[in-house]
Amino acid sequence: MAIVGCGGMAQTYRDRLVPLADRIEVVATVDPLPDRAADLAAAFPPARPETRIEAVLDDIDAAVVMTPHHTHLDVGRQLLQAGKHVMMEKPLALTEDECLELIAEGDRADRVLMAAYPMRFHPLLVSLQEAVADGLIGEVFDASIWTEQYTRYEEGHWAHRRATLGGGQLFSHGCHYIDVLLRLLGEPVRGSHFGTRLGTPWMEGEGTSHATIQFASGALGHHFGTWGARGTQLGYLAQVHGTEGLLSVDIMAGRLRHTTSARTRTIAEAERHAKYLHLGVQHFVDVIEGRADLVADPWSALQSLRVIWRLYEAEQRGVVADLRGLVPG
Ligand SMILES: NC(=O)c1ccc[n+]([C@@H]2O[C@H](COP(=O)([O-])OP(=O)(O)OC[C@H]3O[C@@H](n4cnc5c(N)ncnc54)[C@H](O)[C@@H]3O)[C@@H](O)[C@H]2O)c1
Repeated sequence: MAIVGCGGMAQTYRDRLVPLADRIEVVATVDPLPDRAADLAAAFPPARPETRIEAVLDDIDAAVVMTPHHTHLDVGRQLLQAGKHVMMEKPLALTEDECLELIAEGDRADRVLMAAYPMRFHPLLVSLQEAVADGLIGEVFDASIWTEQYTRYEEGHWAHRRATLGGGQLFSHGCHYIDVLLRLLGEPVRGSHFGTRLGTPWMEGEGTSHATIQFASGALGHHFGTWGARGTQLGYLAQVHGTEGLLSVDIMAGRLRHTTSARTRTIAEAERHAKYLHLGVQHFVDVIEGRADLVADPWSALQSLRVIWRLYEAEQRGVVADLRGLVPG
């Protein structure tokens, strides 16, 4: 496998990938900045650093791509056309047409194209999903997710600019949690989004985002995300209210709690403030080896982006977004 893009996210993956050495051989790290490629290669001896993807194509079966959003289409297409399996960091690509092109390339090449949505594999969110499906809290009528971060890169970084990021905080980071809301609550009907640059003037798009979605069941979903938090109480928190109780996931504390009028108890625990990135990569390898069906498939990843694009469009026009027909019911 090659790691393509050796910036901040690749550093986050590094410690999670090293223990997977029995399943994955990282043969090369690729980044146009040679120092970054070399720095990451050092964690996977004898992996070699390269500055061009062409230089690794003969030696790999698959790649994990962690490059800027405006490069996802070109990088993904090149890898798929060369017959490689691709795990693409979120969001899949910048626009709907780009996503569709990548999906078509994956189909043509008959290779796995997986979207890296680690929240789909996070044990607390998996347990949350199961508890909701099992009816632990009865009929769900509200799910809310808060994420508070301070995210600021160096001046001129691609993630500050709308054209290269593809939007603002909601598109780049909120896509994880819109995805979680869709999987928890089903078919979206309408919604609204308000974003602001106040507090994050380095962002060309919104640095702080509120999205509210009404679902076909009548349930409401809300996501608050900011890249401007100078402090945090909530960290990464999800709450789901049902007619029989409350489920709350605190990712920083590493626990899922179940609350009823009688008591609160912890029903699942996990590593504190962990992204469990290795579980996504393990799944990618399982799918390549035919041991599992792809759960983070590009079509469902595209659905959360479609919701975001419609929310953005409606915000610009000052209307409520019609979200019907986006997610197969
Ligand atoms: N899942 C998460 O929680 C999470 C968190 C942060 C970032 N990400 C995602 O990871 C990806 C990368 O983000 P980042 O924060 O690491 O950005 P970054 O700017 O820190 O790193 C990107 C790297 O890609 C390199 N690069 C640019 N073009 C390239 C190309 N054509 N081929 C190979 N390398 C290339 C750059 O030189 C840079 O080193 C994005 O898709 C981002 O949304 C995911």
